[in-house]
Formats: sequence, C-alpha cells, structure tokens
Amino acid sequence: MNYDDFADLYDHQYDLYRDDLHFYAGVAERAGGPVLEVGAGTGRVTTHLARRGVEITGLEPSGRMIARAQERAAGGGLDLKMVQGDAKTFRLEQKFGLIIAPFNALMHLYTPNEQLQALENLHAHLETGGKFTFDLYLPRFGKSNTVRHEGETLHAPDGSRTDIFLVQRHDKLRQHITTEYHVDTTHPGGQLTRRHYTLTQRYYTRYEVEWLLRFAGFESPRVTGSFQGGPLEKGSEVMVFQTRAL
Ligand SMILES: C[S@@+](CC[C@H](N)C(=O)[O-])C[C@H]1O[C@@H](n2cnc3c(N)ncnc32)[C@H](O)[C@@H]1O
Repeated sequence: MNYDDFADLYDHQYDLYRDDLHFYAGVAERAGGPVLEVGAGTGRVTTHLARRGVEITGLEPSGRMIARAQERAAGGGLDLKMVQGDAKTFRLEQKFGLIIAPFNALMHLYTPNEQLQALENLHAHLETGGKFTFDLYLPRFGKSNTVRHEGETLHAPDGSRTDIFLVQRHDKLRQHITTEYHVDTTHPGGQLTRRHYTLTQRYYTRYEVEWLLRFAGFESPRVTGSFQGGPLEKGSEVMVFQTRAL
C-alpha cells in the first residue's frame, strides 16, 4: 500500500486527531530509551514525542509522507530522524527499548505471512524485554457500496471548498475494508475538480493478534479498549495492545 498519493489528504483528515498522543507520550517516556515508530506517516505522533525530548526514529515507506513529516518538524525547529522502509524488510543496526505502531499502521499487512514477517522483524529490532505497543481500530461496517459524506469539508484561503466523499467495500473472507475516496474541490468560479484515492486496510480480531504475537516471540499482551486503559468491550472503537519481546 503506497501512501504517496495520500500525503496531501492525510494531514487534512487526521492532523487534528489527538486521542492517542498522550498515551504514546506516556509509554515512550516510561520506556526511557530510543523508540522506533513503525508507519510514522507525516509525523503526527513522531513530532509530538520528539518535542517532548523522546529519542525517536520514524520508519515509513512513503517518500512523500516522510517529506511532509520533515516539513512539519522543521516548522517547529525539530530535526526529525525518519528512515524510509517497510516493516517487513527494514534493517537497522540499532535496537530499541520500545517500538510503537500508532493509528492502524499494522493494517497494511494483508496476509498472515506478511504479518508474521513484519512482527518477527520488529522483534529482531527490540532489545530483550523491549516493549511493543500499537493500536488497531475495530471496524464498524457502514453501508457497503454507498457514497457517504462524513462531514469532512475543508475551506481553503483561496475560497475553494473540498468535500471528501467515500464508498466502502467489505471483503469478509480476506478481512479487507477498501475505501474509495472521491475528493471534490469546488473553486470560487464554480468549477469542480475531483481526485480519487483507494485505501485497503486489513482488519483484525483480538485473538488473531494475540496468536500472531505469540508466534512472533512476544509475551501475551495487555489489551485495552481505549487509550485511557478501559476494557475492550462491545462499543469499543479501538484495540490497544501492549506487549514485550520474550
Ligand atoms: C494510518 S497511517 C498512520 C500514520 C501515523 N502513524 C499516524 O499516527 O498518523 C499508516 C501508515 O503506515 C504506513 N505503512 C503502510 N504499509 C507499511 C509497511 N509495510 N511498513 C511500515 N509502514 C507502512 C503508511 O505509509 C502510513 O503512513
């Protein structure tokens, strides 16, 4: 899954998402050593942690997402360490006391082989006993094959407005959710331009993640249904996993 095409849209959509920042800052500060963030994107979490003095490296496959992350950091006078690479195949000399994969980064590993390859590779980059913390959303299946507008309208200084429409398809056998984004910009003269993006995510169930972690050499995780530590229950929107390398 290549996020290059998404780099512009991503910050518009998620820059204000802050639910997880306090949680990851706490986890990183308690770890006390170097941290690797997998799927660091445009540096939403990476810059937040770096600003708080955490020694953090962001791993990200998309060159355009990395460029955005570096722009964001430079704007705040930070020199961000970003490495281009894939969770399955990257190799770094350094080992880390903590690896984090915030905001569904592992949902771009589509098959059990890809998932195990990535988890084993992350395990190999952790010190013994090093921690691994990540979150995954619990999908709420909206109406498939129906165009939706979820209130995402962006107003630009030039007077144009951009509306994000989406259509989702659910492949139950593969556990894939594919979202087609239709991004419509209406210019002040009334002309309309449309951009189109497709994003496929692989969703997980709690116990398959627990088994994957065990296979890859991690200890049985602590699983919560919120960033505040609440239980995973009906109605939870997120699964938060905290484990360590055996
Ligand atoms: C939903 S974004 C999350 C970005 C960031 N962690 C945040 O919280 O804003 C998922 C990120 O995972 C990255 N990604 C996709 N496949 C990956 C892979 N195989 N290895 C590492 N990162 C990957 C994408 O490029 C994207 O930047």
